[in-house]
This record gives sequence, C-alpha cells and structure tokens, in this order.
Amino acid sequence: MSSLIHKQIIVGVTGGIAAYKSAELIRQLRQQGAEVRVVMTSGACQFITPLTLQALSGHPVHQHLLDPTTEAAMGHIELARWADAIVIAPATAQCITELAAGHADQLLTAVCLASQNVPSILAPAMNQQMWHHPNTQRNVARLSEQGWHMVGPAYGEQACGEVGPGRMSEPQDIVQAVTDLFSTGALADCRILLTAGPTVEAIDPVRFVSNHSSGKMGYALAAAAVEAGAQVTLISGPVALPFPEHVQGVRVTDAEQMLAQVLQQVEHCDVFIGCAAVADYRPTQSALHKLKKSDQPFTLEFVPNPDIIATVARLPNKPIVIGFAAQTMDLIKNARQKLMTKGLDGIVANLVGGADRGFNADDNALTLIDDNNEINLPLMSKQQGARKIIKWLVQQFWQNNMKDKSV
Ligand code: PMT
Repeated sequence: MSSLIHKQIIVGVTGGIAAYKSAELIRQLRQQGAEVRVVMTSGACQFITPLTLQALSGHPVHQHLLDPTTEAAMGHIELARWADAIVIAPATAQCITELAAGHADQLLTAVCLASQNVPSILAPAMNQQMWHHPNTQRNVARLSEQGWHMVGPAYGEQACGEVGPGRMSEPQDIVQAVTDLFSTGALADCRILLTAGPTVEAIDPVRFVSNHSSGKMGYALAAAAVEAGAQVTLISGPVALPFPEHVQGVRVTDAEQMLAQVLQQVEHCDVFIGCAAVADYRPTQSALHKLKKSDQPFTLEFVPNPDIIATVARLPNKPIVIGFAAQTMDLIKNARQKLMTKGLDGIVANLVGGADRGFNADDNALTLIDDNNEINLPLMSKQQGARKIIKWLVQQFWQNNMKDKSV
C-alpha cells in the first residue's frame, strides 16, 4: 500500500451503530501519514463521542454549520478547500439521500457540496432492507455517476439481527480505497524529469545570489507524479526538503550544474517539467577568496545564465515540456509570452509576491495554460495544486502523445 503522507482527509461520521468503527479508521489513516479532520453529524454524536474522535484525529471535531466560532476558524468552505479526499464512514441511508438531493443544511453535506472536485468515498452502513430499497439504490447510483466511490457495504449479520448487505466495510478496506484514490496509474510507463528549488550563484566562497524558492512546489509535483505511476527524476537546487519516496534525486547548486544534469538525464525522459526558479544571471566571476570590505561603492557584473527549459525545448527529440511562470504582474500575458518564446507545450502561471502564495508559501494559485486553453485554479495547497497539474498533464498532453505513438 502506498503512503498517505501529507494527504489531508476529511472523515465524515454519520449516525449509525457502525460509527464506533470510524475510530479505528481514523487511527489507521493517521498511521499511514494522513492528516485527518473529522466532521460529525448530530446523529453520530449519539453513537460515539466527539472527544474520542478529537483524541484520535488530533484536532477538534467539526459539528455545526452555523457556529460563528467554528466558521471563523475553519468553516465549511475552508474545510472543502483543505481536503484532498473525503470519506464518509459510516454513511447512513439518510446521509446518502441528502447528498443525492444536494442538501447543504448540515455541516457535512455543505462541505460535500462545496467539494465537487475532491475525490470522495462513501462507506454505506444500514439495515439490509434499507440498502435494497429502490430509493437508496437510486441515490447510490446517482452519487456514483457524480464520481463518489462506494466501498461496501459488506454482507453479514447486522446489529438488528438480520443478515445481508449493510455492514460498514472494515477500516483497512476503506484505507486501501483512500490510497487507491491517489494511485491513478495514469502515468505508468512515463518517465518524468523535473527541476525544483532555487539555484545559488556564488559571488565568492561565502556570498551568493539566489531567490526564495523552497522547493515545495516542485517536490509536491514529484510526489504527485509518483502517485500517478511515473518514474521520476528530480534535479533540485539547495533546499531543506528530503526527496519524496520513490524519486531519484540529484542535488545541484547553480544553473550551470542544473543544466549539465538535465542534459545528462533528458534523453531518458518523456516529460520535462521546469519548476526550478533558476537565477537568470550569475556573477561574471566568482571570487576565489572572500571579498574584502571597503568604503567604496561596489559594483558586481552579471552574465545571463543558460535558459535550461528553452534548451530542452530545442532538442531534436524533445520530450513534452512544461514550464512555470512566476510573475508579479500581467500574469497571463507574460506566461503566454514565455510559452511561445521558450517553445513550451504548456506553462503553469503563478502570481507571486504575496505572503500567502508562491515562493516559500504552502499554497499556490495557478493557471494552467496551453496553446488553446486556460484553467484557473483557486488558492490551494501545493500538494493539491500538484495533483491538478499532473491530471492536466495526463489529459492535455500524455494521453494524446500515447495515441500518436500507437498510430
Ligand atoms: O519552490 P517554492 O517555494 O515552492 O515556489 C514555487 C515557485 C514559485 C518557485 C514555482 O511555482 C515557480 O513558479 N517556478 C518557476 C520560477 C521561475 O523562475 O519562473 P520564470 O518565469 O523566471 O521562468 C520561466 C520558466 O523558465 C520556468 O519553468 C523556469 O524553470 C525556466 N527557466 C528560467 C530561467 C532559466 N535560466 N532557465 C530556466 O529553465
């Protein structure tokens, strides 16, 4: 089973006898590395206490839609934006009916309505006759059509004494289904070469020119590509992050080293993604010894660094090439300009300069741009953004590339 490290999962608990199993589900999700927030309906609180689930999840349980203090802290919209996945276990017949009808009068249903693009799982649990009822079956079919994944119900003896389908699936099966949500396999057979982080250009042995790139965006992309089944090589400037699992990592310092490593690896890749914030210039000369301080003004001369991504895009057997554009103004215009002049297949534009996004922040607001389309993504975690970029890569570029090869 692949890991759920850094995955942000909402566990919704509704009012059925199987609610006690949600405690074990939360424990196992956290054991796999997921961060869990729990949303309980009032019915669920009749079966298991919020205190138990607070202790297991490590966070206060969310219960009320119209609670001003909760909404001010992390309201239903924030919860929806935060989630990488939603799991409702147990999901009662009532909950399924409300979701299918698009209700939003409880916190849990409101969160779900605000999470249309978040992968979601239902683990139904109810009396077997209620499960078989055409209304329930119709609602389940409707939710499946909308993209909900059903886990169970399992067959067996029920709390009411009847035997049939209606038992909530076991926590380990639900955890496996959550893991499967992220392991799409859409990039199986795809080799991706990525750059991330800043480059550091030496002035002398102790001073340098660089930027605030932390590597978070590029590392999140590498992890998302692995999740999708790709074979990933990540060439990284100096950052404080460990390489994600199953990624072949190479550390470099400056732009020339990054270019050399890219050129060494690029012929073995199908896709190149340039997420690194490569310094556009480097000092003409890096002094051999520490420069001495003086009272005179000091001028440093710079020469342009090689443009790594443009070099890759000019190769005769070039891979699919996706760039990034970090801009503080005229975002789309400048990104489109780079798409064209650098000869890229696609570009990810991000407005930088604010503390809540871009360089070194945990979040990014991105626009995915190709020759024909623009997809605007709202502010979200870099992990979530990375998965959207990988999905876009698959749909816009990789699938077409595979079709061309098979013709
Ligand atoms: O690392 P984080 O803190 O998470 O921040 C993420 C990020 C803001 C660094 C990332 O999302 C991002 O926008 N990266 C690209 C930053 C950048 O340098 O953009 P640019 O507009 O200057 O460059 C355009 C493209 O050309 C980029 O794909 C860049 O990798 C590439 N480039 C630029 C200069 C150069 N000499 N060689 C290049 O390959």
